[in-house]
Amino acid sequence: MRKVYADNSATSYPKAPGVSDAIKDFLDNTGCNVNRGGYADSYNIAMEILDTRQMLADMFCARSPQEVIFTPSITYSLNTLLLGFLKRGDHVITTSMEHNAVMRPLHALSKMGVAYDIVPCDEKGILNAVDIIPYIKKETKAVVMLHASNVCGTVTPIDAASEICKRNNLRFFVDAAQTAGVLDIDARKMDALAFTGHKGLLGPQGIGGFIIKKEFADEIEPLITGGTGSRSHEIEQPDFLPDKFESGTMNIPAILGLKAALEYINSTGIKSICEHETLLTSEFISKVCGIEGARLIGKEDVADRTAVVSIDFEGNDNAAIAAALDSDYGIMTRCGLHCAPLAHKTLNTYPHGTVRFSFGHFNTLDEIEYIAQALKEILRK
Ligand code: ALA
Repeated sequence: MRKVYADNSATSYPKAPGVSDAIKDFLDNTGCNVNRGGYADSYNIAMEILDTRQMLADMFCARSPQEVIFTPSITYSLNTLLLGFLKRGDHVITTSMEHNAVMRPLHALSKMGVAYDIVPCDEKGILNAVDIIPYIKKETKAVVMLHASNVCGTVTPIDAASEICKRNNLRFFVDAAQTAGVLDIDARKMDALAFTGHKGLLGPQGIGGFIIKKEFADEIEPLITGGTGSRSHEIEQPDFLPDKFESGTMNIPAILGLKAALEYINSTGIKSICEHETLLTSEFISKVCGIEGARLIGKEDVADRTAVVSIDFEGNDNAAIAAALDSDYGIMTRCGLHCAPLAHKTLNTYPHGTVRFSFGHFNTLDEIEYIAQALKEILRK
């Protein structure tokens, strides 16, 4: 049976050309640690890691590669930023479209005396940035929001939110899980940008990170402390970047895989990646909108939207539709609440959820046609 992968919001597949070769080459031919060994192989791999930081710094307009921190995942990044910065008595503002990667740390913080408010988005997931303003109070320290919904693809107005934060002296964190590698992002407009390597950046799982301004990094406690290969004679965690936030051996194979992916993205161009994904989305939406029983959730146009399309199959069990897509047509989707129950409440799809189709760089128009046909046939039965 034909296989069509439409779950790129969970992780991109396939990965960029060169990713698996880079990982295999490292594991087979070098395999050493960095910042620890006193030999050429170790120095060479350290240089490759520095190159990877530089590529990320260039992509996201960071001021230096030292402001690029590697972590095991974007969830880890967001936990570091939120738990490391906010203190008892502080207040933070977020939106009603957030993923649990933001909401659960905020909930955990609320048990430690940090209050938060949620700015409502409309039923298409659209945030009006000025709606943040009434929630600002003297205890407010930060605003945190995703850049695009993992449920329906709606993009948040981060430039306008950044201006509001600047005017009110608030720190601004952005969760770019669904946009890094697909939309242009200028990290100079925020205090911290959290990213993952395995979605739009087309790299392997196990590598994420954040871009942070040096002056803001001084205000954050690291989530973990330990060996960094630097200042080994001191019991204090190094206070300089990136070591402050990078204790323990890094996931070197994943970083080198990510480097290969970044080379591919740079040679292809984010603009062209975005144009292709927008074309796929627009085709899919126009085909699906005409199918009886399939209700599109979120925006019907492709402006300020990523390639994530959620559908509620009214009168049918969404899980049964997703199962039929997989078993009868080899089409892989994600069904349910997508780790974002608050977003589903906003979109009026809670608690039943949706079937989510998320397209990526390697999907084709032919696959879009195949999925649309499959849906027509399933709903006809
Ligand atoms: N957050 C990822 C998703 O939306 C895993 O599927």
